[in-house]
Amino acid sequence: MSRECFYVTTPIYYPNNVPHVGTAYTTIAADCTARFQRMLRGKDNVFFLTGTDEHGQKIEQAAREKGQEPKQYVDKIVAAFQEVWASLNISNNDFIRTTEERHESALQKIFQELLSRGQIYKSEYEGLYCIQCETFWLPSQLVDGSRCPNSECNREVQLLKEEGYFFKLSDYSERLLKYIEEYPYFIRPESRKNEVVSFIKQGLQDLCITRKKLEWGVRVPGDPEFTIYVWLDALCNYLTSIGYPERDPELFKKIWPANVHLLAKDILRFHAIIWPAMLMALELPLPDCVFAHGWLVMGGYKVSKSNLKGGARNLREMIEEYGADSIRYFLLREGTFGQDMEFSEEALIRRHNSELGNDLGNLLNRTLAMLHKYCGGIVPEAGDKNEPDDELLEMMKTVPEKFKIRLENLEFRLALETLWDLVVQLNQYVERTAPWQLKKEGAAGKLNTALYNLLEGIRRVVIMAYPFMPGSANRMFRQLGYETPLEDIRWDEIYNNFMKPGTKPGKGEPVFPKIEAEPAV
Ligand code: MSP
Repeated sequence: MSRECFYVTTPIYYPNNVPHVGTAYTTIAADCTARFQRMLRGKDNVFFLTGTDEHGQKIEQAAREKGQEPKQYVDKIVAAFQEVWASLNISNNDFIRTTEERHESALQKIFQELLSRGQIYKSEYEGLYCIQCETFWLPSQLVDGSRCPNSECNREVQLLKEEGYFFKLSDYSERLLKYIEEYPYFIRPESRKNEVVSFIKQGLQDLCITRKKLEWGVRVPGDPEFTIYVWLDALCNYLTSIGYPERDPELFKKIWPANVHLLAKDILRFHAIIWPAMLMALELPLPDCVFAHGWLVMGGYKVSKSNLKGGARNLREMIEEYGADSIRYFLLREGTFGQDMEFSEEALIRRHNSELGNDLGNLLNRTLAMLHKYCGGIVPEAGDKNEPDDELLEMMKTVPEKFKIRLENLEFRLALETLWDLVVQLNQYVERTAPWQLKKEGAAGKLNTALYNLLEGIRRVVIMAYPFMPGSANRMFRQLGYETPLEDIRWDEIYNNFMKPGTKPGKGEPVFPKIEAEPAV
């Protein structure tokens, strides 16, 4: 991971439905990663990509059902996606749509390149296809002989018999297995890696990568009766958006290979088998890591379009009700990244009120109130030592170190747990030093130390909280008296740019007002 630019991606989403909290999960995790890496490496050395996957039979059908042209249909939904991402404070550097010319022409060049390298051949395809999942299946994989094996789909598959172009996926089994063994962090988490390995060991079949007479797709160069298979189309977005093969070779050289592709477990095989085989065929380096997280579930069922009504509400409404940061915090705090996670608005409200409102928000409020009451609102110079100082100062040093390792490792929950160790410690420090008592006793030196340490501790907490809750962290940072947005703060400032005595922080205003209302059912 010593490359200059850190490249993180989300899957590109099907715009056949507006995003829900399940879809937002990957995007929020990617945004947190990107913001954190920008702090570590500088803004220009991180590239965060998301986008939409707009071709294929499924989208075409959805559009036709609404009596619309596919492009007209997706344009509207893509706009809704972009709006939701903006209100969640998603800081992607680019947004790729597979219907853009820059993608379509590059995809055709990639197809051409694979053809000229002898990696693609034309033949007859006869087999089974699930439109919903845009996936080819073998008879042995079907449920009850005719239904899609994806447990969330289970729809009847279609028999397809048509001419098509094939990618020589079967040639890659050995190379893929060798690669996965050599690079143990290529597929994460470990349990998912084992699944992929046993799948490859069963033997890979060549993959049909075109559809005949399907209008809504990118044409095969020189053979316009065929369109390119939507998954090949989609996977290539990770390359075409950054200028491959011809549009911007300099940019491509700076950014590729990706450090991490983030996605959910249901699309891991595409990313951990087909995608690396394609890259090998193009003689391009492979990404460092493909990380498959679990699903957001409600009552055991995957949060999805189909149970959107009864389950997770419209995301836009939820953002209005709870605020982007409480949703972001909850999703990354509640579950272990890699495993399924139960989503519930009650749990979100509980964490908002107790961890964000009480532990963090009140800490800042109380501290600023004491500063105004006892020190005229001016950050004092630390004076005499208090008994609990050493313990706090030690934690202020070690917590950022631990936090950094965990977040670099995509252990979002553990990173937040570590951060909260410091938040809890700071709250205890208030109780143990009791600044109001020191004031009464006239122990000005100790009082100054207590308030200084609290403010400096909170400053560190706020910087660490930023990748998770950019809006709220910036508000807290401003309350501490800083004008520079956290977007411009580098990680090292935690250790080398302490709170300056003489600074005049503002009066605290609640950053996480209590949520009283019961969620609407
Ligand atoms: N278009 C393809 C991806 C192509 S990437 C080259 C696709 N799109 S999708 O919109 O159906 O799903 C996008 C991502 O959102 C997938 O990783 C999917 O698993 C994820 N999620 C959808 N619902 C989810 C949950 N309930 N929980 C977690 N992830 C969720 O697949």
